[in-house]
Parts: sequence; C-alpha cells; structure tokens
Amino acid sequence: MDMWFCLCLLFSLNLVWKCLGDESFKKSFSASREPFPWNQSRLPVTIRPDHYFLYIHPNIASETFVGQVQILVTVLNDTNMIVLHSKGLTVHSAHLVDLTATLSEQWQLALQMVESQSRELLVFVSKSMLKKGHKYQLSISYNSTMSSSFSGLYKATYLMPNGTSRTLVATHFEPTSARRAFPCFDEPSLKAVFSLVIVREREYITLSNMPKGSTKSRSDGLKEDHYLTSVKMSTYLVAFVVCDFSFSTAETKRGLKVSVFAPSHQISQTHYALNAAVRILNFYEEYFQIPYPLPKIDLAAIPDFEAGAMENWGLLTFRETSLLYEQETDTLRSRLWVSLFVTAILSFSIQWFGNLVTMKWWNDLWLNEGFASYMEYMAVSYLEPSWSVENELFIMDVFRALARDSFLTSHPISVSVSDTEQIRQMFDVVSYSKGASIIRMLRVFLTENIFISGIRNYLQQHRYGSAQQDDLWVALSQTALMAGKVVDVKAVMDTWTMQRGYPIVSVRVQGTRILLHQQLFTKSPQNDTRSLWQIPFSFYTSNSSTVMIHLMTNKEEVITLEHEVSWIKANVNSSSFYRVSYEETALYALVSQLHREPAVFSGTDRAGLLDDIFHLASQGSVKYSEAFNLSLFLRNEKEFLPINVFLGHMMNMLVRFSFSRQPCIVHLLKEHVWRMLGKVAQAEHWEDGGSPSDENKRARLLALASGGLSRAAGQQALRLFHFWMAKDGNYSLPRTLKGLIFRVGVRKGNHAEWTFLLQKYQQAVSSKEKLMMLKALCQTSSEKKRTWQVAQSTGCSLNNHIIKTQDLAVVVEQLGYRPSSSGLVWKFLQQNWDNLLEKFSLGSSYLSRIVTSVTSKFNSLEKYNEVYNFFVTQKHLGHMSFVKLSLEMIQTNKQWLVTHTKPIQAWLQKEYNKAYKTYHQCHKEVTYHIRWGATIRFQL
Ligand SMILES: *[C@@H]1O[C@H](CO)[C@@H](O)[C@H](O)[C@H]1NC(C)=O
Ligand SMILES: *[C@@H]1O[C@H](CO)[C@@H](O)[C@H](O)[C@H]1NC(C)=O
Ligand SMILES: *[C@@H]1O[C@H](CO)[C@@H](O)[C@H](O)[C@H]1NC(C)=O
Ligand SMILES: *[C@@H]1O[C@H](CO)[C@@H](O)[C@H](O)[C@H]1NC(C)=O
Ligand SMILES: *[C@@H]1O[C@H](CO)[C@@H](O)[C@H](O)[C@H]1NC(C)=O
Ligand SMILES: *[C@@H]1O[C@H](CO)[C@@H](O)[C@H](O)[C@H]1NC(C)=O
Repeated sequence: MDMWFCLCLLFSLNLVWKCLGDESFKKSFSASREPFPWNQSRLPVTIRPDHYFLYIHPNIASETFVGQVQILVTVLNDTNMIVLHSKGLTVHSAHLVDLTATLSEQWQLALQMVESQSRELLVFVSKSMLKKGHKYQLSISYNSTMSSSFSGLYKATYLMPNGTSRTLVATHFEPTSARRAFPCFDEPSLKAVFSLVIVREREYITLSNMPKGSTKSRSDGLKEDHYLTSVKMSTYLVAFVVCDFSFSTAETKRGLKVSVFAPSHQISQTHYALNAAVRILNFYEEYFQIPYPLPKIDLAAIPDFEAGAMENWGLLTFRETSLLYEQETDTLRSRLWVSLFVTAILSFSIQWFGNLVTMKWWNDLWLNEGFASYMEYMAVSYLEPSWSVENELFIMDVFRALARDSFLTSHPISVSVSDTEQIRQMFDVVSYSKGASIIRMLRVFLTENIFISGIRNYLQQHRYGSAQQDDLWVALSQTALMAGKVVDVKAVMDTWTMQRGYPIVSVRVQGTRILLHQQLFTKSPQNDTRSLWQIPFSFYTSNSSTVMIHLMTNKEEVITLEHEVSWIKANVNSSSFYRVSYEETALYALVSQLHREPAVFSGTDRAGLLDDIFHLASQGSVKYSEAFNLSLFLRNEKEFLPINVFLGHMMNMLVRFSFSRQPCIVHLLKEHVWRMLGKVAQAEHWEDGGSPSDENKRARLLALASGGLSRAAGQQALRLFHFWMAKDGNYSLPRTLKGLIFRVGVRKGNHAEWTFLLQKYQQAVSSKEKLMMLKALCQTSSEKKRTWQVAQSTGCSLNNHIIKTQDLAVVVEQLGYRPSSSGLVWKFLQQNWDNLLEKFSLGSSYLSRIVTSVTSKFNSLEKYNEVYNFFVTQKHLGHMSFVKLSLEMIQTNKQWLVTHTKPIQAWLQKEYNKAYKTYHQCHKEVTYHIRWGATIRFQL
C-alpha cells in the first residue's frame, strides 16, 4: 500500500521537474580531458541507497528498453558527488532533490554528469554540498538496447511445437549486471528496497521478485504491472521476466504460494519441480528456523540461459534442463530427477544463506556458493534418505576440488577482487566445491548440533544485512562454547580459506606411535615450507574401527595409541580436505588388508584411497606400479563411487595417450579397465531400475562396455537404436540408457542414423532429451557434420538456429574430447573469439569451461605456443585464470607423458603380456618427440 502512495507522489513530482526543463543538467563524458572525479574501484561510502523506484519498459519488438529510476539515498558524510554504476545506458536527464529540506526549499539541485564507460561508472557532481544526514532523491531517465548475451536485460526465444518462434525478456544480474538495466549502486552490501513497475504488451505477463500489486492500462494500450515493495536486498538479486508463459502452482505447509512458469507446451513438465520446491521449502524453513521472508516464490524456465540456475529472491530462474522434467508414469528415482532436485535445493538454500544474509563483498562469494553446494547434499540426505546418493555426489565434488586446487594457478577461497572480470572468475570450482568441502569438514569436526545452531545464530544476527566469513566463524565458536567446546573456528578455517592449495599428510606407523608430517600438495612438487594448516585428522586402525579425530596444528606431530596396530586409515570418508601419503610399510599393510577384505573400508574410503594414490603417482611421490597394484581390488568392486573414481583416472590417462598417439598403451589400459570391471559390467541389464546410484553405475558401465570394450554390448546398443529408429522414435528406450544408445547409434551408424537423430532433436519437447541427443550427434566421424554443428550453435539468425547458443559448451566439450575433432574446435575458438566475447562474458565460468575443455587435452610444445600466442600475445589475456590454467595444464600433460609413459607401459605389459603380444600396434618402433626433454624411443 505505501508503495502505491509513494509511486504516485514521485511520478507527479517527476512531471513537475520535467516542466522545469533540463538546462540544469549537464553531461560531460569521459572523453573530456578533466580527470574522472572518482578513481577508486569501490564506490564511496558517503552515500547509502535506501529505496529504488524503477519504471521500465522493455520493448520486445525493437529490442530496446526505456527506464526511469528514482533512488532515495541517505548522505552519510558531506560530499558534492554521487557515484554509481551504469553500463551501456544512455542517460537523458537526471535530477536531485533534497527531501530533508523544508518543502519550499525542495527545488532541484543542479547536476553535472560525468561518465566512464570503461569503469562502468556515472558520477553526478552537484554545485552545492550534499549534507550529512539528509535524504535525497536522485531521478534518472535513460534508455538502452537489450543485451545480446545472457546477462543484464536480454532477449530469449523458444520454438512452439508448430515451429513458431516466441520471444521473451529475462534478466540475469549476478554478479555485476544490474547496472546494465538501471543505474544503481551495484555492490552487494549496498542493500535497499525495490519498487518496480514493468510495462508490457497486452498479450504478455510479467514476473518479478515480489507479488504484483496491481495492473494499470496506459493510454497507448500498454499495461503497467506495479509490484509490491521488496524486502531489503542487494541489486544483483533483482529480477524480472516478460513472457507468455503458463504456470502451475501449489502451497507449502504454512500456505506459501509456489509457482513454476514455463512455455505452455511444456507446462506438463513442471509437475516435479513444483513438488520438489514445496518439500524443499518446508525443509529449509525448519532447518534454518527462519521463515522464507517473501509472500511467494516463483520458478521460471528460461529458454536461453548461461548458468544452471539463478537464485534471485522470490523469482528463481533456471536453464530448462535444470527445471523441466518430462512426465513419466514410473519411478521418481531417476538420475534426471535427482539432478533437478539438487539444483532446486541449491538455489533455495541461497534464499537464506546469500539473500537474507549477503556477503559484504565478492571476496566472500564462497560463503553463498560453498554453503549452498554443501546444503545441496545435506538436504538430499534429509529429504531422500533412501537414495543414499548425497555422499557419492558430494565426494565427487570433493575430488573435483582437490584436483583443481593442486594447480599452481589455483587461488585462495577468499581472495581480494575489485573489477568485474575478477569478480566473475570467483564463480569457479574453488568457491563452490572447495568451499562446500571445507564446510563439510567443519561440520564433521564441530558435530551436527553445534554446526546447525551456529548457522541459525549467524542467520538471525545478520538477517537483511551483510556479513563476512569472520562473522560466521564467531557465531560458530560462540555456539560451540555454549555447548562446552572450546574451538577457535577462525584459527582453523583461516588456514583453509586464506591459503591456496591444501596439504598432503604423510603417515608413518612405528609401534604405537603414528608420525604425521604435513606439506603443500601440488601437481608439480613444490619446495614450500611456509604453508601450514589446522587439519582435523581423523582415522581408524586395524585394532579399532572407532573413528578418532585429532586436530593437527603443527608441521610434524605424533599421535600415541594404546596398542600397536598394523595399519591405519586416515581421513575417514574423505571428510577433510587433504590427501594422505602412507609410508611404504603402512601402505603395504593397508593394501594387503584392502585386497584381503575390502569391506573393512567403506566405499567412500576405497574411493579415497584410489583417488589419493593415483594423484600421488601422477605427482611422482608414489610409483605408478603401486597405484595400479592397489587398483586390483576393483575386480570385486560393486559400488559406484570407487568404480567411478577409478574410471575417471583411467579415462584421463586414455585421453593423454590417445592425444599423444600411443595405440599400444591405449589398448593395454583398456585391457586393464575391462579386466577390473568387465564382470560387473556384463552383469548389468539393459533396463531402468534400482537406486539412483545403481542407475548411475549401470549407465557408466554399459557406456564403457559399448564404447568398444565389449562387442556384444555395442551390438545391443545399436540394435536398440535401430529398433527405436524403425518405430520412428515411438519406442520407449530405457530412460537412463537413452543417452548412450544414441551415442552408439551415431558412432556405429552412418548418415541415416545421424540425420534421423537430428530430426528427432529438432522435434523433442524435453530439453533433457535434447541435450542427450546433441551430445550423441557430436559423436559423428564426419568432418562436415561436425563443422556444421559448431557453426549451428553459434548461428546468429534465428531461422536457421537449430542448436541454441547456450549449448555451445556441450558441442565444444564433446568435440574437444577426441583427438580427431579437437583441432576443429580449437580453430573455431580462435576464429570466433570476438563473437564469443559478445555472448559470454570474459571471466565467466561458462567461457572458461569452453576454453579449458579444449586446451586441457593438449600436450605438445606446439600447442603450448599456439595457446600462448593466441591468448597472451594477441589477445593480451595472460592475466585471466583460464589462460594461466590452460598453459599449466598443457605443461603438466607434457611433463606427465615424459615421466610416466614408460613405467605405466612397463606395468601394463607385464600384467597383460598376452594382450601385449597379440596386438600388432605394440610391435612397432615408436619415436615420441618431447621437445622440452629428450626424445623418447619406445621399443614396443
Ligand atoms: C586517486 O586520487 C587521489 C586524489 O585525488 C590520489 O591521491 C590517488 O593517488 C589517486 N589514485 C589513483 C590510483 O590514481
Ligand atoms: C567524513 O569526512 C571527514 C572529512 O573529509 C572525514 O574526516 C571523516 O572520516 C568522514 N567520515 C566518514 C564516516 O566517512
Ligand atoms: C534512446 O533515446 C534516444 C532519444 O530519445 C534515441 O535517439 C536513441 O535511439 C534511443 N536509444 C535506444 C537504444 O533506443
Ligand atoms: C502455432 O501455434 C500458436 C499457438 O498455438 C499459434 O498462435 C500460431 O499461429 C501457430 N503457428 C502456425 C504457423 O501454425
Ligand atoms: C628448496 O629451496 C631452498 C631455498 O630456495 C633450496 O636451498 C633447497 O635446495 C630447495 N630444496 C629442494 C628439494 O628443491
Ligand atoms: C587392540 O590390541 C590390543 C593388544 O594388541 C588388544 O588387547 C585389544 O583387544 C585390541 N582391540 C581390538 C578392538 O581389537
């Protein structure tokens, strides 16, 4: 109601100002000689925004928008200027009124505007001083064109089943794109309330963070949707959508309205998301013990979307594949359902941990994202205990973060950032997965009860405000103290958030003494003596399965046990973020136990042992023969997690050996994989069923088998494809195996199979199915078809735009993965770099992923030089982390091949001598040139 009043008042004031004319408003642009009046990267602390009134009209037909924003601000210290953000907006007029002055004195103050396009800043300089404690109203009218990328205010399109194209407008502001839609104080801690009015054509609807208050008709026939005033929030969380979607709706336990919006022909696919959203909201309200603060929550599927989901307060936006799920009569327990569920959980937890309490600045982004990634698994285990997937999924995140964080080009979780590119680069594996991993570590260390009470206290203390990591540590320490536990959480956690990398703990057993030593773990061993972590070191022993936790704070420590033990297993269930290196006899005892009785160790521990030893071998501190010997327990492995970790390492090696053209080792390595997993793969049936974990395992194993290791499996997949094709797609394939069947169909098939799949791709209504088909289409061996696909996914004209640009990364990744097509995509990236930058922002994780998915496979000096010349010399991007990472990966691959090819070959040759003798490629002399080292000659 109050918003109504304010708006009317303000818009009438606005009219008065217009009558006053614009002569008091002077523009001067950064081209002018005078120095730009504000030279720091952060906004001055003299002005605080309190309330934004935004009136915006996105014109879909002309792809432009016109806006007026009135910002009520409080001056915190005398100043003569207002500095705020704006990008790509043309400002027509600006006015400032002192609201604290008596009514008779409320005339507008003369303003001069200076703009810096490169710094995305507007500065309004006033002739008279703005007084401390006074409130002012700054009004700005502006216009602009819609963004052609996936951020700011942008246009998205989708096709109706009959081929008609539809357009909508969506926003995506995180981290720094609100300034592309309206001038604003675009920093997360400058929270304010927002009142939006969105103008639309009659046949559209609009959505925003808050519920709509009313709709008014304009004299020109357009409609104005007036939204209720929001709670206090950061600019990057503002969102709106103008679309012609339908919706489905439901209520939570306490009557909160939840709706899912999607194109009308996909509305039947919203059922699962709606059901999930209601359950997740019920759960979080209980878990955080703070009710969700807005009167409604909307979820919208946006057909062109760069990220997976965006947690705008009250209006969550999603990529279609993250929200829509085709209605099926059978089980809910499919992998797809799980991924949908998990994405929703992620975005929902940020409604509290992120939106309610926001990081002060982007250096603490990990508090939002790391915590949300952690809650993802936490919530799944509460909501669907029978799935028992949370652990598996989670551990994959831990392993992924451990792998990324061992590169020298990694960075501390909390790092100082100032410009937009640096801020975007924070949205990476380190913030998300390492962040989540160390939160889990902390929870295990503090115990669940202390952890959750601490979180609740933190959210209560800082609601609607901003916080930094230290505030969380204080809340957790205080809560622990109340429970009688003295823990200096900050001292522990600072060692994990302020330093790059993580430790490797060496373990030596001497009678009853366990000798520990910690040092930095990196891909290429470093001579580092400075790093020190406070490590919650957990273990059990041959003598007792009880888990003990010891907080290791020194470089070297000794734990004394009551009894002698033959082995110890450290880092139980990979709950802390480090690797373990067992000294020779300890390792021997552990491996013997593992081979004799693997069930003594949990599946997670078996996976952890595998992951550690293969990484240690790749780094050179353990011999590859030890790693391969340890892996022999997999002959009897049944659980998904160890199998998956093992396959990950084997696939990495296979890619490296394929890219360096070594068919003999590739053959022997496949032999090893099949000897380990062939039995369990052959026991799988070509049908759905079992837990999500079973389904994951089945899909992975059958893909492996039909990928060339088992002729029978390959034939079976092709048979199913042809059957499906003969029925014109009206044959229901096992849902969890569809993807692999499509892939085999294209790989083993020909032009007919590929064109048939392409036709089905264009007709498919389910975006998930489309994605599977797209991946499969990339399996073609035809150069012409590959080129067509790449060109399609960047096509600018809608008419011929069969593959959406949002899916470009999928195409590049699939093609970059194979030596035969990697050259094509690398050339493509270089030739189209400037176009790519128009679509995807520099520093975004999407663009980084596109580049590294190609460059990470390179292993030669030539390629190193090409990458260096292109990105560093020509494009001057040597400071970007994806460039540094690419170069480090190429160097690492190169070095790895030099060092490890021979020992790996030797082990395989000895173990699989028959396969070696009978494979003709193994009996050629291969000369392998290593430019940085010597030339290696293999006597195969
Ligand atoms: C910014 O301006 C102040 C004074 O106006 C000056 O002292 C300072 O050196 C400038 N900083 C930079 C980075 O140019
Ligand atoms: C306000 O300005 C004065 C003078 O420039 C300065 O000394 C003081 O620190 C400022 N206070 C704040 C809160 O910025
Ligand atoms: C903004 O408005 C000006 C004048 O009203 C007009 O010339 C210009 O084309 C507009 N720009 C956009 C992007 O609509
Ligand atoms: C396609 O369907 C939409 C909505 O059902 C309709 O408005 C449009 O005219 C149709 N287009 C064609 C070419 O049939
Ligand atoms: C480590 O660095 C120090 C000083 O830089 C050097 O003296 C020492 O030899 C190095 N040790 C190794 C193992 O590289
Ligand atoms: C541990 O070892 C000691 C002595 O070797 C033995 O007395 C004790 O029973 C063992 N405990 C367990 C749980 O095996």
